[in-house]
Amino acid sequence: MVEFTLPKNSVVTKAHPSCPPSKGENFYRVEIYRWQPESGKNPHIDTFDIPRDECGSMVLDILLKIKNELDGSLTFRRSCREGVCGSCAMNVNGKNTLACTKSLADYEGDTLKIYPLPHMNVVKDLVVDMTHFYNQYASIKPWIENQTAPERERLQSETERASLNELYDCVLCACCSTSCPSYWWNSERYLGPAVLLQAYRWIADSRDENSDERLNALDDAFKLYRCHTIMNCVDTCPKGLNPAKAIADIKKLLVQRA
Ligand code: SF4
Ligand code: SF4
Ligand code: FES
Repeated sequence: MVEFTLPKNSVVTKAHPSCPPSKGENFYRVEIYRWQPESGKNPHIDTFDIPRDECGSMVLDILLKIKNELDGSLTFRRSCREGVCGSCAMNVNGKNTLACTKSLADYEGDTLKIYPLPHMNVVKDLVVDMTHFYNQYASIKPWIENQTAPERERLQSETERASLNELYDCVLCACCSTSCPSYWWNSERYLGPAVLLQAYRWIADSRDENSDERLNALDDAFKLYRCHTIMNCVDTCPKGLNPAKAIADIKKLLVQRA
């Protein structure tokens, strides 16, 4: 079996040796990945015990309590606090999710293990570098393209508008792409589920006239066909979307026009 090893400076050092035993069921034990680039040290895990009756009901509430009251240096992204901006994506107990909409009640046991999105370069603590992901998003031209200037706004029928449901709802959090094994190994060239779902969103838009060009750009062994229908993307999407179906729909359109 192939064995993969992390570069030495990425290996997470063990939880703090003086970490006391869990305080019991009235507390959340929160283990958080920490990495401060300026320290020159390896990442490590910090452990906090938070009384259940002193924090709100979401994962983000626990992080905010720790940052506000225990360790102001803890670094993570968040903005809207209602699952709209997509900035608080992280990995909690092994699954990518949005911290602001993920209820603590969804986790069994008293321990939360919070890590940055997998297979992304870490900037600091739970903040990952999204530059490549956003460049890939820009590459699919996420705007309406057409050659004719309209005399008034471009109208859509109810059916045409409905065809964008569960596509436009994507908040570009990258939970799906960073849970996709194909994206882990080929992210330089494979666009990944989030960007492909967005690509299909513009192909499916009745107001866009450049579907053919968009399909030409996607018809590539790496950009599109690295999806092997593993379905992690569907399982993890915190908005309940189905990127795998959007990818299948793109492939179907390519077959139909061949
Ligand atoms: S279905 Fe495709 S995009 Fe989704 S996780 Fe699997 S390989 Fe990745
Ligand atoms: S499809 Fe879901 S998981 Fe993927 S980026 Fe959009 S909202 Fe996030
Ligand atoms: S803070 Fe905006 S999606 Fe969580």
